[in-house]
Amino acid sequence: MSIEKALDAIRKGQVILIYDFDDREKESDMTVASQFVTHDIIRQMRQDAGGLLCTTTPYRLAKAIGLPYLSDVFWDAREKYPVLGLMAPTDIPYDNTKSSFGITINHRDTYTGIPDCDRALTISEYAKTIFQDKPADEIAKDLGTYFRAPGHVHLLNSSEHILSNRHGHTELASAMMYMAGVLPSATICEMMGDDGHSEKKEDCIAYAEKKGIPFVTGEEVISAWNDFKKQH
Ligand code: 5RP
Ligand code: CA
Ligand code: ZN
Repeated sequence: MSIEKALDAIRKGQVILIYDFDDREKESDMTVASQFVTHDIIRQMRQDAGGLLCTTTPYRLAKAIGLPYLSDVFWDAREKYPVLGLMAPTDIPYDNTKSSFGITINHRDTYTGIPDCDRALTISEYAKTIFQDKPADEIAKDLGTYFRAPGHVHLLNSSEHILSNRHGHTELASAMMYMAGVLPSATICEMMGDDGHSEKKEDCIAYAEKKGIPFVTGEEVISAWNDFKKQH
């Protein structure tokens, strides 16, 4: 079963590919559990995937800590910076819900923040920091102690009820983390082609087969997630 294989890979800190839907982005995101991110994984993501590297935060945790959606920050700042109001993302072509973009961060122990080791440190420490068993205001203080914003790792806040209204990679990847039983933050990066477009589904499947990487579709994730929810 490809979902089981994919969950096993996630538990082992390996990457998988998640294709969303033929009627959405039509993109495959290389996906890994944030807690296991290393500089080798970041290199694999930028060399073989090539898209934007992003790290997810569960909705409720982001809300409790006070980690905003970037669109809300821009909207709230529109009186001072009117251009931010004019550019509100009301026309996303592939999704009628809101963009999941949050703020960008760097760990304070990074120099520029962009090299593989820097991003690996930011991401793995972020996962360790936000899932500590302590009150949200203390986690917020720890974020201030150990991270600065803006930075070179994009955060994504998932939607409130995973895979109910929004079916983005943010939610698909989060669901895979919950089902794998790892810390529920995923790091994802879109597979890009060499022709100026996103890598086609068939080419992503061929890459996955060649490299022995599990490939799952949005439909498969949703079906497994619905079964998982019935049991938990
Ligand atoms: C950030 C993105 C990607 O599409 C990423 O897959 C997350 O977004 P979504 O949840 O909308 O799929 O926009 O690079
Ligand atoms: Ca997107
Ligand atoms: Zn996506």
